[in-house]
Amino acid sequence: MNSNDINIPVLAAPLQGVTDNVWRMAQHEVFGGVDAYYAPFMRVEHGEVRRKDLRDVEPERNAGTTLIPQILACQPEHALMMVDALKQMGYSRIDINLGCPFPPIALHRKGSGMLAHPDLVEALFKSLASVEDIKFSVKMRIGWDRNDQWRDILPLMDIIKPEHVAVHPRTGKQQYKGELDIEQFEALLAASAWPVIYNGSLHTVEDIEQTIHRYPTLAAVMVGSGLAANPGMLVPDATPDDYRHFHDLLVDGYTDQLNGGEAQLVRHLQDIWQTFLPGTAHKLFKAIRKSRTLDQYQNAAAAALDDVTAALNPQEEENEEP
Ligand SMILES: Cc1cc2nc3c(=O)[nH]c(=O)nc-3n(C[C@H](O)[C@H](O)[C@H](O)COP(=O)(O)O)c2cc1C
Repeated sequence: MNSNDINIPVLAAPLQGVTDNVWRMAQHEVFGGVDAYYAPFMRVEHGEVRRKDLRDVEPERNAGTTLIPQILACQPEHALMMVDALKQMGYSRIDINLGCPFPPIALHRKGSGMLAHPDLVEALFKSLASVEDIKFSVKMRIGWDRNDQWRDILPLMDIIKPEHVAVHPRTGKQQYKGELDIEQFEALLAASAWPVIYNGSLHTVEDIEQTIHRYPTLAAVMVGSGLAANPGMLVPDATPDDYRHFHDLLVDGYTDQLNGGEAQLVRHLQDIWQTFLPGTAHKLFKAIRKSRTLDQYQNAAAAALDDVTAALNPQEEENEEP
């Protein structure tokens, strides 16, 4: 539970390519405030569970955190393959992805694409209902191409009796753009027999507090891009040194984990800045993007981190300029 006025669990949403075990362990060690982390989805490719996905959730790489792995599948046999592998690792909670909007996935009737096909969701849930010793949860959108498709999906939850249903109130077709459909979220919240979690555009503790105030029956809130942008958003006293420490842990973690040499490491570190500290001044961000060696990258990142207070409060900083 959190140290401020937040009286329900705060969950870290999965962000493929961002919130991997290195990021999660660094966030946990330096900042915390997260009650449980959701791992980016794992999937079956060429008939087997992707090794990279399994590595990411190995218990020894996630020590000390509460981690809930997530599976993305349309075919029941693929889902069961992943559930089996996770059971062998000792997991007893697994999240089911019915939310991914990425067209190559959704157009193959996976993720949010499944929301337009209740028959497929039903078949998937029926196969999972027979699994013993696993508590499932669901992360979903309100629909794929219509904002009321959840109405056909919600009754199917009875099949798996989920621990909770986390809802991002957009359709898959909207991807990450456009208005959050609060009306549909409220209708879903009122209709659900299962605990509901709100997920979407929570960027500050105040955002979270307002959401809890507005929806007192929420089981938890889930924070994605807000936490990726500011991994210290849940703690009131994060210092610039904490952000340097967090960044050092990412550099060390990816140096150990990526064996593709310096160029690959630099590219990966540069990618972090697509979501991390989005208020970073343009010229500092450009220097990070232009770096070619690890030394150049480290110098550019150090300059950006020296300016972390400005990056976290871009508006305030602008106002101070004459
Ligand atoms: C780059 C990126 C990767 C994502 N990967 C996943 C994922 O693996 N599984 C999932 O359920 N949602 C994924 N999401 C969706 C987020 O978990 C979350 O639902 C969405 O960003 C809305 O919440 P937010 O406004 O707090 O970010 C991803 C989103 C982004 C932007």
